[in-house]
Amino acid sequence: MKSYTLVAPAKINLHLEILGIRPDNYHELVMVMQTVDLADRVDIHSLGTDNIILHCGNPKVPLDRTNLAYRAAELMQQEFPDAFLENGGVEITLHKHIPIAAGLAGGSGNAAAVLVGIDLLWDLGLTQSDLQELGSRLGSDVPFCISGGTAIATGRGEVISPLPTLEGIYVVLGKYQSLEVSTPWAYNAYRREFEHEYAREPAALVDRSHRVHSGDLVRAIAAKDAVKIGQRLYNDLEKVVLPAYPLVNQLRKEFERHPNLGTMMSGSGPTVFSLAASREQADTIYHQVRAALPDPDLELFVTQFCDRGVRVI
Ligand code: C5P
Repeated sequence: MKSYTLVAPAKINLHLEILGIRPDNYHELVMVMQTVDLADRVDIHSLGTDNIILHCGNPKVPLDRTNLAYRAAELMQQEFPDAFLENGGVEITLHKHIPIAAGLAGGSGNAAAVLVGIDLLWDLGLTQSDLQELGSRLGSDVPFCISGGTAIATGRGEVISPLPTLEGIYVVLGKYQSLEVSTPWAYNAYRREFEHEYAREPAALVDRSHRVHSGDLVRAIAAKDAVKIGQRLYNDLEKVVLPAYPLVNQLRKEFERHPNLGTMMSGSGPTVFSLAASREQADTIYHQVRAALPDPDLELFVTQFCDRGVRVI
């Protein structure tokens, strides 16, 4: 029986800008996404029977259809019925290291790993863009999780354009374990507060004066200038998440206090991160934040930029 082990890295957002509301009710975005070394491991193998079985040691992770990894396996069954009949169902085990509901795309990465794993198990020979098209039906972040590295994501977040890869930039991540922010809540809160500024048709959003533009950040990435990258971090969702979650606001302020390249919240939060120029600087931030906030509920990680998404090991 064939089996594969995949690594599914977390992502952070270096830029997240909301351009407006789309006709499909999602938000039109410009994001710059970056994968980091902090990753989940996903084991997958074929079953003789026709079911999908999901395991995870973390009791907070649902094991049914509400888990995106489960839905990824279901989608492959529906799309490739002949291969499914021939190979049978799949058993998937998630080894979680990425915090859950954290703004780090952990669930999307697991789903991306299941798509890649089933492609291999069933010998489908799908291309990266085939897999990304399937991934976009599961969630806006899944296509990026498949390719990873550094990329611009537009549309709902599912249209991916790769950027030059970056090395040697370290990241300290902080998240309160008991704190989760719902992504739909964050976007809806943003919409309630800023709807009056937005038109409904994306075409009408071009050249709007409030746009921040990711151009300076993209130029800094092209120049591999870590200092400028750190100075140009941006996230519109901070405007609603930080006021609603004082602990996240306090954590962000604590991160900012220690020498770093730049501090920001990732995605819809509540994870906060600082970029660091070296492992030593990252370790110093880690220890200083830990000393200032000894709360055992606060999880801290030191990781670094990585240049790929899901991969088989
Ligand atoms: O695409 P995904 O299912 O991951 O998105 C989760 C939720 O985040 C959506 O249901 C929506 O509320 C919000 N969202 C959005 N606009 C986007 C992406 C996500 O409003 N571009």
